[in-house]
Amino acid sequence: MGISILGMGSYVPEQTLSNDDLQRFVETNDEWIRTRTGIAERHIAGWEPTWYMGRQAALRAVEKAGIDVKEIGLIISTTVTSDFLTPSVASIIQDEIGAENAAAFDINAACTGFVYGLETAKNFLEGNPSMKYVLVVASEALSRFLDWKDRSTCILFGDGAAAAVVERSSKLFSSYLRSDGSGARSLFARSLEKAPEFISDTEFDDGFPEKPLHQLYQDGKAVYKFATAALPEAFMGAAEKVGISKDDIDYFVPHQANLRIIETAAKKLGVSMDKFVVTLDHYGNTSSASIPLALNEAIDKGIIKRGMKIALIGFGAGLTYGGIILEY
Ligand code: UT7
Repeated sequence: MGISILGMGSYVPEQTLSNDDLQRFVETNDEWIRTRTGIAERHIAGWEPTWYMGRQAALRAVEKAGIDVKEIGLIISTTVTSDFLTPSVASIIQDEIGAENAAAFDINAACTGFVYGLETAKNFLEGNPSMKYVLVVASEALSRFLDWKDRSTCILFGDGAAAAVVERSSKLFSSYLRSDGSGARSLFARSLEKAPEFISDTEFDDGFPEKPLHQLYQDGKAVYKFATAALPEAFMGAAEKVGISKDDIDYFVPHQANLRIIETAAKKLGVSMDKFVVTLDHYGNTSSASIPLALNEAIDKGIIKRGMKIALIGFGAGLTYGGIILEY
């Protein structure tokens, strides 16, 4: 059994931030950012919480799918930028869209979140014959977790959301999920620190380098090296399971972190860049929302059509990585 995508929707905040705009905060320039990353601009959330962006994307996905929202049995949110430590973003979205028969929870697989979310959806549908639809929502507000004085990270990220309604199907589906936790310290944002005051004899130590709360820290070179190996492995792992080759794939939709990473992965796989969907020039890296934002845009533009075989390949903090191959 596999799953297929019935409908997708997305939402990006109205406000955009160009490479030139970034010069207001950090010493950088358009030329450096474009040549090193391929990014030209990104959207930045203003008043919108993460759950609101997810809600908007979810409503559009439900509308495109043409289903009754009450038939959704599960909502999975894949965010790394939750508004609250608890409740989950998924629970808030569940109420906001009126999905009154749905269970709801968040998963955190960082930028690989949408890939992990689809696999989780598939497993729920497989194990619950009465469950009809699962809604996977990827909504991210990275701008709230960035050090806007650190030019090596703040130029990379953007905000936005995308969602997909999925159902069980006998069409092609394969997945390959992995994690290499030995790289956990090369990309992280701390959410908690300090023991309560009455615990005075020990100093809190989570084993990670000292960095401020809620700020994304990244060892760019380490992540770059990991990513260029992880993306080809993510595809090959999923492809080998179902005995298909790169030539059978109509479009690859990779995590949108850096154009050079995508180009290197394409080269390693021996696939032309024409087969890679690239949207990072106008969205930047939106973590778990990046793959579904790119996929939804390619569908809306008529690039990805029904019946095509697509490969979604991602990597991110964890360090997680994974691939899903399915027929759209
Ligand atoms: O989903 C999360 C996944 N994250 C990623 O995929 C990130 C992976 N890593 C990367 O994409 C790249 O490593 C970066 C884009 C983050 C950095 O590119 P790089 O080619 O590795 O640059 P670098 O760190 O080696 O820096 C080269 C130079 C340095 O100056 P010096 O030491 O050579 O004088 C930096 O200080 O560029 C400087 N630099 C900048 N200059 C202008 C770093 N950031 C900037 C900037 N503008 N924004």
